[in-house]
Amino acid sequence: MLIRRHSSGYNFIGDTETGVTLRWGATSEQDPVLAPWPELADISISNHCSKNCDFCYRDSKPDNSFMSLADYESVLDSLTSPQWGSVFQVALGGGEPLEHPEFIEIIQRTWERGIVANFTTNGRGVTKELAAEIAGKVGAVALSASSIDDIQPERVKILVDAGIKTNIHYILDSNSIEQAAEILEGRYNYMLADVNAVIFLTFKPRGRGTEAGCLTPGAALDRFVSRIDSTACCAHIGFDACFVPILMRQTKVNVDYVDSCECAFFSIYIDEQRNVKPCSFATGNRDSFNLQQYSMEEIWTQHFSVYRKGLLDSPCSEDCQHSSSCHGKCAYFESLAFCYQ
Ligand SMILES: C[S@@+](CC[C@H](N)C(=O)[O-])C[C@H]1O[C@@H](n2cnc3c(N)ncnc32)[C@H](O)[C@@H]1O
Repeated sequence: MLIRRHSSGYNFIGDTETGVTLRWGATSEQDPVLAPWPELADISISNHCSKNCDFCYRDSKPDNSFMSLADYESVLDSLTSPQWGSVFQVALGGGEPLEHPEFIEIIQRTWERGIVANFTTNGRGVTKELAAEIAGKVGAVALSASSIDDIQPERVKILVDAGIKTNIHYILDSNSIEQAAEILEGRYNYMLADVNAVIFLTFKPRGRGTEAGCLTPGAALDRFVSRIDSTACCAHIGFDACFVPILMRQTKVNVDYVDSCECAFFSIYIDEQRNVKPCSFATGNRDSFNLQQYSMEEIWTQHFSVYRKGLLDSPCSEDCQHSSSCHGKCAYFESLAFCYQ
């Protein structure tokens, strides 16, 4: 199904079958600044996880804090505008989505509404039965890894055999950066043959993730960045928004195909308590608005304007040819601003 949205200075087409999206501004040469309604919602359906990763930015624990199915439906209702329709896609996270007792029903309800459901998982709950239940109803599944050893080929195979697009979310931190360069050099292609894409996620010093894990400028980061333009990895590669300033500035990646940080401009985050924030890493309460108190429309059109203005009004001070297309440094983490050092 093709989803279309057109307004002044904003055009969007998304294909729910393939997940391919196109966005352009007043002309195809221009980028829109802001969507009239979020295209993507990142939703934490719990903060419950029994894996206890020592880097977890959400500090997730096996505390049985699940978003109820009724609350999830009310979140989807709130994400549906009379004028613009629903969000195009959701990214379900947590906590561990596959430990949510009503996960299958959550996927089913999302699919019934014509919304593309993607999710990220530590992989432990991936079984043939699960894959059979969700096949044809999800966009992509991401298996998280902080090292190549975390990738479980048998889990990848289960998903791929069921026809599910499978990505790896690889955390780029001070420990994993050397191995990340080796991934780009093709050294682990034997493990990645069935994987659609390896998405590199910039480490955030939040929750159980400490500053020691942050990437810093230096030889290891340089080596990784230098491999991006000539990647020999057999899977596609991708990056989270936090890495975009480096991509724009230090690689030959075509900036027309790179989206700067989209949080609160094209995407939105909702936690298991139904707090709405620009992104899952947002700190403090300034940009947090609960759906029991505010409507999504108010949050999107009014309350996020403070965050947006702050970001647009504080361009980075570097002399950089990409300053007009880059949203600059992260609003929340000074230590992620290594493009500027
Ligand atoms: C918090 S996890 C929740 C979903 C699920 N339990 C999982 O392991 O994918 C969501 C994503 O955040 C990533 N992540 C966790 N801690 C992080 C950190 N400190 N910095 C950056 N990404 C992190 C995980 O690798 C995963 O891709």
